[in-house]
Amino acid sequence: MHLLQQLFVIVLAFTSLEHVSIIVYAQPYTSVVAPVNKHIDTAKSLYSVEIITTLDENKHALANFLIDIEAPFIWHDCIVRWNTFATSCPSNTLCTYPVSCDEYQCDEVRTIYSYKNPSCSRDPGYSSLPGWGCTCPVNVVDPVTGSCGQAILNYDDFTMYTSDGRKVGVDAFNKFYGANPNAACAPSSSFSSFPTNVSGVMAFSSSPYALPAYLYQPLKKTFALCIPSKPSTRGVLFFGTGPYYFLPQTNVDVRSYLSYTPLLKRQDSFGYFINVTSIVIKKRTINVPVNTTTKLSTIDPYTTLRTDIYNGVLRRFSLVTKRLLPAKPVAPFGLCYSTSTTGLKVPDIEFILQNGQKWSVSTTNSIKQVTDKVACLAFVDGGATSEPAIVIGAFQFEDNFLEFDLQNSTLGFSSSLLRKKTSCANFNFTLAN
Ligand SMILES: *[C@@H]1O[C@H](CO)[C@@H](O)[C@H](O)[C@H]1NC(C)=O
Ligand SMILES: *[C@@H]1O[C@H](CO)[C@@H](O)[C@H](O)[C@H]1NC(C)=O
Ligand SMILES: *[C@@H]1O[C@H](CO)[C@@H](O)[C@H](O)[C@H]1NC(C)=O
Ligand SMILES: *[C@@H]1O[C@H](CO)[C@@H](O)[C@H](O)[C@H]1NC(C)=O
Ligand SMILES: *[C@@H]1O[C@H](CO)[C@@H](O)[C@H](O)[C@H]1NC(C)=O
Repeated sequence: MHLLQQLFVIVLAFTSLEHVSIIVYAQPYTSVVAPVNKHIDTAKSLYSVEIITTLDENKHALANFLIDIEAPFIWHDCIVRWNTFATSCPSNTLCTYPVSCDEYQCDEVRTIYSYKNPSCSRDPGYSSLPGWGCTCPVNVVDPVTGSCGQAILNYDDFTMYTSDGRKVGVDAFNKFYGANPNAACAPSSSFSSFPTNVSGVMAFSSSPYALPAYLYQPLKKTFALCIPSKPSTRGVLFFGTGPYYFLPQTNVDVRSYLSYTPLLKRQDSFGYFINVTSIVIKKRTINVPVNTTTKLSTIDPYTTLRTDIYNGVLRRFSLVTKRLLPAKPVAPFGLCYSTSTTGLKVPDIEFILQNGQKWSVSTTNSIKQVTDKVACLAFVDGGATSEPAIVIGAFQFEDNFLEFDLQNSTLGFSSSLLRKKTSCANFNFTLAN
């Protein structure tokens, strides 16, 4: 070992004299990518990311995972087996290796990085695998129903495609990128409330058991999310600092559209927060009390405002849209119009952020077509004491590019890409050969 190390140092010394670049391995890719889907077959729209769960002699099994930027760890439809290489794995079942109750991961996930929910039992207990030993049950909260269930911690294996920001699979030798997180297996029945064909929750939070923490630099520094507005199109998720290109502008890096604001942390959450200092609609400011907490959520379908803030927004918005024909409000919305959003144009709702940056919510992200004839302001009253006071929901993210820089704790945001004549559905997912 010592000799090898010495040899290595000598070789390094020689090569560094000649070509420094030889010893710096440059990956041929700058990011990894995964398609993002919108699902509308549940009470609220939800979004999933498509991940390759097994990669066996070029056989891919694709699975859709709900995108949750607050979840403490990943869980999905699988079972644990200790002898996975034998014939013990039933067909059409994803088998993974268990984490033992004695391992530190079990302790950490159960005590620190767990779902916190009053409906969960304090102690998930232990279970065992015959012939192997005790496994590690963990509580999971269904993001659709809010109910608590159990899953078993495992050693998992996920694969995504590499990219240079333009294409998928940079070359034949570097088509795939694999990550090996500890996730958790839940029975198939746990996903019955999920959209069809979605069988897991992918955590993108700041928890050390969320997916970003398991990637190598420079990928783990940053992930970017661009969710589509239609179920028939695919948005995109990137890991890596960019560049990112969307058609038809093959030479415009999406980063050139971004403004940046600090991402804030909260003691009691693995989610992401920003500092909204006021809301402006057509030059008039709606007051937001100092140090109001604003959370970003991919699970809440619409932006939710505490009643005092909501009332201010509603009053101002109805004033600036008074030329539109009102309609009876459709729950959960409080302000609706007898109109179709085709051709409809309303003033922007601007979130003014710390340092004066401005996130503009334009018509496609502020007005939701509820029926053929009724469209509503897609903001919801969260109640007089709702905490966080502002939750920016997924409808407001559609066709917006969001770059979460986890190293610098900054959020890059584009506002609507439609104004730049592109959209989240414009990444070229055609697999390069
Ligand atoms: C289910 O999802 C997989 C992976 O994304 C996809 O290949 C398949 O076509 C989907 N099936 C349906 C019925 O949507
Ligand atoms: C707002 O937050 C900052 C930073 O956390 C703190 O210094 C300040 O005292 C807070 N202001 C109020 C009014 O709570
Ligand atoms: C939010 O920004 C305002 C204005 O810059 C500042 O006074 C306040 O302390 C910030 N709050 C937090 C929690 O950083
Ligand atoms: C992150 O921070 C470093 C050091 O402050 C800076 O050089 C770099 O440009 C930042 N990156 C981004 C994407 O803001
Ligand atoms: C999309 O990517 C494929 C594979 O890399 C490429 O052949 C094709 O030209 C690209 N399409 C456009 C419109 O650039």
